[in-house]
Amino acid sequence: MEIAVSRKAHFNAAHRLHIKEWTDEKNKSFFGNCNNINYHGHNYDLIVTVTGEIDPVSGFLVDMKWLGQLIQEQVENRFDHKNLNLDCEEFKTINPTAENIAVVIWKLLRSRLNNHLKLKVTLYETERNFVEYNGN
Ligand code: NI
Repeated sequence: MEIAVSRKAHFNAAHRLHIKEWTDEKNKSFFGNCNNINYHGHNYDLIVTVTGEIDPVSGFLVDMKWLGQLIQEQVENRFDHKNLNLDCEEFKTINPTAENIAVVIWKLLRSRLNNHLKLKVTLYETERNFVEYNGN
């Protein structure tokens, strides 16, 4: 029997989407507002979903307090109120799109999560735009 538990988190961060091999014109038309030369912010909402078997002794799938702390240490402390392009090593060589941010977050959490648990990351860049990554 599999069960899923989710924990929400939030961070604010600035970014700029830009491909240096492209002309300014192409960047502007492709990335729109996210290409703004002086960066701009998003209020990112994150949902971390862990799936697996309930521990028969504790009745927990995962200790939510521990999961909350893990997300705070690995995601919020790392990205909240940062310029993702300039401040964050993770995005020195990759564009900080919602897709890439979700993959980075998944990797940060995956390496610290028990192997028998499955992990999915859902990242909202706006209320209407969100991406999901489960490692596949
Ligand atoms: Ni943007």
